[in-house]
Amino acid sequence: MADRYAVFGNPVGHSQSPRIHALFAQQTSQNLSYEALLAPLDGFADHVRTFIARGGCGANVTVPFKEEAFRLATQLTPRAQAAGAVNTLSFTEGQILGDNTDGAGLVRDIRINLCVAVQGARVLLLGAGGAARGTMLPLLGERPAQLTIANRTRAKAETLCSQVGAGNTAICDFTELRAQPAFDVVINATSAGLSDAALPIPDSVFASHTLAYDMLYGRETPFMAQAQRNGARVADGLGMLVEQAAEAFFGWRGVRPDTAPVLAALRAASR
Ligand code: ATR
Repeated sequence: MADRYAVFGNPVGHSQSPRIHALFAQQTSQNLSYEALLAPLDGFADHVRTFIARGGCGANVTVPFKEEAFRLATQLTPRAQAAGAVNTLSFTEGQILGDNTDGAGLVRDIRINLCVAVQGARVLLLGAGGAARGTMLPLLGERPAQLTIANRTRAKAETLCSQVGAGNTAICDFTELRAQPAFDVVINATSAGLSDAALPIPDSVFASHTLAYDMLYGRETPFMAQAQRNGARVADGLGMLVEQAAEAFFGWRGVRPDTAPVLAALRAASR
């Protein structure tokens, strides 16, 4: 019998996770199944418990259940604790271990796939919602020279900084960014791109040495277009998607898949 895994979300039909994990399992000869399970908005915990009762070994969690998964977990990794959200669950010995692999996935994509060092870099993080929070601890773990957080609502950036920030974390309004020299890495963790909204950030945050990273994928956002116009190198979040999945797979199976062919397959399919 194959070990059972799943991704829970609502909606979940669009999820690439079953494809990614099937490719990982094939590549590493792991005997597992992985399915997408639609949980009703008011029935996430019940659905997870039923899955566990039927032999489920672990699960990924996507929108809108990451905070609920955080509350459902009986144990949390430090990075899940810092993120305040869980995207990976492991079921062992009656416990539900909650982890968050999103930030680690982002960092691995930047460092390994895009060959850009966060260590010693001036990093600008745009946004202070759930996506931004999930990346803070892993980003700080890379020891950037400075991590600047800019958000439309300054109070949310201040809360985020006080919860997860460290000595080299700074807060900035979008307008105050005009006084800053260009950054080495600019990460868009806002959801503005989902509605094709441009961010009111100055062109001067970008230079030819800048990596401009949008955590969204499957579309060119106004942020990416602005970065490109200003000569920056641009990346979307597809690599982060594959890397967060690999980190979850590693946690479940103890084997780290080679992400490069999987990312290439997804990239080819999205063309
Ligand atoms: P997510 O889980 O995707 O992070 P979220 O927690 O609702 O979603 O956070 C959305 C983030 O995108 C916030 O930082 C939000 O800014 P505010 O805190 O000011 O609301 C940001 N955001 C969304 N649309 C935006 C827009 N049009 N311009 C600027 N920031 C935007």
